[in-house]
Amino acid sequence: MENPCTNLTLFLFLSFSLFSAFTLSSFSPTDNHLINCGSSVDASVYNRHFASDDDFSNPNSPLLSATRTTPLANQNPAPNSPQIYNTARIFWKPTKYEFEVNDPGTHMVRLHFHPFVSSDLDLSYAEFHVLVNGFVVLSNFTVANTATPLVKEYFIWVESNKLVITFMPTRRDEFGFVNAIEVISAPKDLIADTAIFVSGTRTEKFDGLTKQALETLYRINVGGPKVTPFNDTVWRTWVPDDVFFEPSEISRRIYSSGRIKYQNGGASREVGPDFVYSSARVIASTSASIPDANMTWNFAVMEGYQYLVRLHFCDIASMSLGLLYFNVYINGNLAYDNLDLSSITYMLASPFYADFVVESEKDGVLRVSVGPSNMSMTHTVDAILNGVEIMKMNNSVGSLDGKMCAGMVLRSWPRGKIGIFFPLVAVVCLVLSVSVLMHKRTVGGRDTVAWSKLPTDDAPGDKLKHEDDDDNDDDDEDNEIDNDEHEHLSGKAKA
Ligand SMILES: *[C@@H]1O[C@H](CO)[C@@H](O)[C@H](O)[C@H]1NC(C)=O
Ligand SMILES: *[C@@H]1O[C@H](CO)[C@@H](O)[C@H](O)[C@H]1NC(C)=O
Ligand SMILES: *[C@@H]1O[C@H](CO)[C@@H](O)[C@H](O)[C@H]1NC(C)=O
Ligand SMILES: *[C@@H]1O[C@H](CO)[C@@H](O)[C@H](O)[C@H]1NC(C)=O
Ligand SMILES: *[C@@H]1O[C@H](CO)[C@@H](O)[C@H](O)[C@H]1NC(C)=O
Repeated sequence: MENPCTNLTLFLFLSFSLFSAFTLSSFSPTDNHLINCGSSVDASVYNRHFASDDDFSNPNSPLLSATRTTPLANQNPAPNSPQIYNTARIFWKPTKYEFEVNDPGTHMVRLHFHPFVSSDLDLSYAEFHVLVNGFVVLSNFTVANTATPLVKEYFIWVESNKLVITFMPTRRDEFGFVNAIEVISAPKDLIADTAIFVSGTRTEKFDGLTKQALETLYRINVGGPKVTPFNDTVWRTWVPDDVFFEPSEISRRIYSSGRIKYQNGGASREVGPDFVYSSARVIASTSASIPDANMTWNFAVMEGYQYLVRLHFCDIASMSLGLLYFNVYINGNLAYDNLDLSSITYMLASPFYADFVVESEKDGVLRVSVGPSNMSMTHTVDAILNGVEIMKMNNSVGSLDGKMCAGMVLRSWPRGKIGIFFPLVAVVCLVLSVSVLMHKRTVGGRDTVAWSKLPTDDAPGDKLKHEDDDDNDDDDEDNEIDNDEHEHLSGKAKA
């Protein structure tokens, strides 16, 4: 089918490209806290300045108290490892970082983890919870020793003037750690409040997206290269899509070296950088028939959560406007019927994104597909996708990781209320246990006496603690016990 409007649209396209404004202004966040944890010196990564968290002369220091924390340095850092990963702060009890917020709204929080071994402590043995402003973002969390750092990214809505991150070991004989922290006010247009809820039975408006805590699970640049924080407007990482893409013979990758035309009201450069919109995969019909196939990407997700699926589109493939129509499916359900980018952007190479909210499927796979619609035409492009972001939404108890709410997690920390009674109780219990044992022996095990090991109150690594005494909270009372009873490191820490 020949498009009768080709000449007109081509003309419009040319005039638009001549006049469309090209904004190069780079994003500069109002709140921009970058912290190099466990280091006495600042660090620079990708021209970004990470401040030491050891400077308590600075009243704005986000680390509220260094009590029972340990600054740790990697003695054998990998040669090209960014400086922020060569140190970490270790937490032996719940510890808070409090960041001043001058610009309420969505904030990006990035936690950097890269375990190393130092001073007899192997950070890959850490096990801890992390809370951000009343949301549980990580629970029973451990970090495997891998070649590349792990960066966890969250979007948290902040109404007050501070954002608090709490690190909490799972038990007294455990510890937590972090290498670096970023708390940045997000661009105002990054998270819109409304999305489209898609399920097998209905498609409807989803409101209140900004107030959800979101965790970035996947951020892929379809058909294109990896994009590093250095080349992204808001310091994100986009990875190539190859491992998610179902092999397909009818699709191909495309690149555009032309300019990406960001427009007011459309996707901005903060929503997606040029690198993302300049590459894509397409289904194109080169013959007189429309391919009978979809392109599909598969993502592993966890059951029991809802997911925000952001799809990025930019028609860098069509010869002119009005030739590209396609369907978008999520988990096999029609999410967008006959998507016509031209009718939204009125020009080619102009980015657009759509947000969908879906429930997780039983099989733990989230599937995104695009394919020809019943308005697709022969000899044209019949489907396109440039980028995908998948974010996990907090569940009904305000957690991104488990069924415990923040209050329950905090209360699970053993409090030292028993104070000086503890040693006495311990001695009495010990005497009782021993006498029970003796009794059992003499009586010949007639009764099965159930008794459990005393709950020990370890705080390993006392050797490593650089401050131990001016602890103002409930832990005060049991520091004595900690110090007397446990000179050794946790059995899990490597010698
Ligand atoms: C951590 O794991 C334990 C044991 O599996 C579980 O009982 C607890 O609820 C978990 N904690 C959180 C905060 O999810
Ligand atoms: C940024 O992009 C340019 C152009 O593709 C590339 O040469 C450079 O290596 C990238 N920088 C980083 C730090 O990824
Ligand atoms: C594309 O995917 C949708 C949703 O799974 C499905 O209904 C449709 O039949 C698929 N089309 C082709 C040609 O496989
Ligand atoms: C196109 O397909 C949609 C569903 O995908 C259907 O509702 C609509 O009636 C179809 N249009 C035509 C012209 O067949
Ligand atoms: C996420 O947490 C908020 C605040 O706790 C709550 O209002 C909201 O309903 C939660 N989201 C979901 C999808 O349950």
